[in-house]
Amino acid sequence: MMNISKRLERLKIKLIELKKEMPLEINEVIDYFLKHMTLNYEKVLWILSLNEENLKEKIYKVADIVNKTLNTDIVTLKGVIEFSNYCKKSCYYCGIRVQNDIIKRYRIPIDEIFEIAKNGVESGLTTIILQSGEDDFYSDDDLEKLIFRIHHELKTAVSISIGERSKEAYKRFRNAGASKVLLKHEAINRKIFEDVHPDKDYDLRIELLDYLVELGYITGSGNIIGLPGQTLEDIAKDIIFMKEHNIKMIGMGPFISTHNTPLENLENGSAELTLNAYAATRLTIPFAQMPATTALGTIDRNYQFKALNCGCNVIMVNLTPDEYRENYNIYDEKIKVDLLGTAQRILDMGLKIPPYTLRNLFIKEAQYGFSNERL
Ligand code: 5AD
Repeated sequence: MMNISKRLERLKIKLIELKKEMPLEINEVIDYFLKHMTLNYEKVLWILSLNEENLKEKIYKVADIVNKTLNTDIVTLKGVIEFSNYCKKSCYYCGIRVQNDIIKRYRIPIDEIFEIAKNGVESGLTTIILQSGEDDFYSDDDLEKLIFRIHHELKTAVSISIGERSKEAYKRFRNAGASKVLLKHEAINRKIFEDVHPDKDYDLRIELLDYLVELGYITGSGNIIGLPGQTLEDIAKDIIFMKEHNIKMIGMGPFISTHNTPLENLENGSAELTLNAYAATRLTIPFAQMPATTALGTIDRNYQFKALNCGCNVIMVNLTPDEYRENYNIYDEKIKVDLLGTAQRILDMGLKIPPYTLRNLFIKEAQYGFSNERL
């Protein structure tokens, strides 16, 4: 792969060329980006506020060129295992909050989690994300051993997405081989955060995020688009916050109203605004790993793929066996993002998937024929 300075040089040439076909306002964004390799709050806000189809498509194009020139046109597929839907938290938007007693709770046994991860790696995935509600049933010890096994035996990157654990625990997980963490800040506006998080863990969450960066994790965060009282200014501040706190992976999804939660009557977040946020984020944090989220795909499947041409460069595919997955309803109607179907659609769009993923998918096909069951 080309080194960074070559890629930057190439990008510069492309953007200068692109300016010829862009209107003045877009060119102001391009000029700012060329000078600073990032955007400021005002420019982010301007992109978020775009409503006109024509201008939106143009800014998506700028974000797309920046992504594909700096990070290539390979879409990384990561595998998520939702290993427990028990949660001690009370987040108002979330279907697995502790108060929701109409869902069936499950915990996947440790050995089974390992087998699912193994299958995922054999299918061509290079990152395994261990995700769950905040569930203390799995001790730090249990998770540490599991992470160690997955990382060392399967020779794969391990990412953890298990909410707030102690600093000590995160340090142990890092030493055991986890290299990435996802911990969404959800909303940097304290009032918005506290209005939907009765657990009032705002300060703890931010402190923990900074600590994770300090520990050397590739740290992921993100927000929910469409929380009560949220303005475009708030979303712009979320994006600037992530830039300033060295967040390298960014998951932003629209709010989805979920039955039997306090926000069940709130309108869903906007898919359009989510795309604007992706484009703005790509231009603000150009090297970020940014998934086209499942939440966006749940609102509109086509938008999830369109997002891959608006700055996103990752898709998280679901490895959770169906019998469990059906109950991991953090929000209603959560779609299943399957490895094979997703890989095929990415290829159909003319984009690429990593060579390891491609090769292993085809090995599986040769062995069994393409079957969603096995993948
Ligand atoms: N709508 C959108 N996103 C949600 N999440 C949880 N519940 C919802 C919902 N109703 C997101 C949060 C959380 C992640 C696991 O899923 O951002 O961090």
